[in-house]
Amino acid sequence: MFVTFEGLDGSGKTTQLRLLAERLTAKGQTVVVTREPGGTELGEAIRDLLLHGGNVAPWAEAALYAASRAQHVEEVIRPALARGAVMLCDRYVDSSVAYQGIARGLGLERVLDLNLAAVGGLLPDLTLLLEMDATVADSRMTGKRDRLEREDASFHARAAAGYRELAARFPERIVVLDATLPPDELAERIHGAFLSHS
Ligand code: TYD
Repeated sequence: MFVTFEGLDGSGKTTQLRLLAERLTAKGQTVVVTREPGGTELGEAIRDLLLHGGNVAPWAEAALYAASRAQHVEEVIRPALARGAVMLCDRYVDSSVAYQGIARGLGLERVLDLNLAAVGGLLPDLTLLLEMDATVADSRMTGKRDRLEREDASFHARAAAGYRELAARFPERIVVLDATLPPDELAERIHGAFLSHS
């Protein structure tokens, strides 16, 4: 089963991914945890260019995220799924559609098409979208901000709107959850969504 976590920076998706991984591992399931951009040697190098480099043109940005993802699918995701593991991935195609397609304005369809080509059509079985208002998410961000996190509030609000558009388009796959719920309650709901999709 292929599960992805999506949401704005500050929505708590990384913590929730870890909690689900711990819960499934404790039940004896083989779980593989990974993240995007990154997850492979090439992907981590691309991540560095994207998050800590200088100016990146919008289509260069979309293409770099897609390149990292193509490598990730081939090297990590497909082999793990073939072994029967539960694959938990922090961000995937929906991030590119929300951030590059909608927030950067490159277009939902064009960025979705680019990514579907890059991943050979592989979409998750379940996507947990941790929804949170952009200003609240912004106030929860700690530490030094990367290039994307330094974008203004309207960029992050457009990304949030992009996620809502995706949830309406893929209602079976994308489960929308209120990221402001207490973490343990959110973890319960995520586990429930996992069980009902497996
Ligand atoms: P993330 O791994 O969530 O950052 P962190 O390690 O700081 O938690 O993602 C880094 C940034 O990249 C995030 O601001 C969202 C952005 N991003 C895109 O714009 N498009 C994409 O396809 C992906 C995967 C991430």
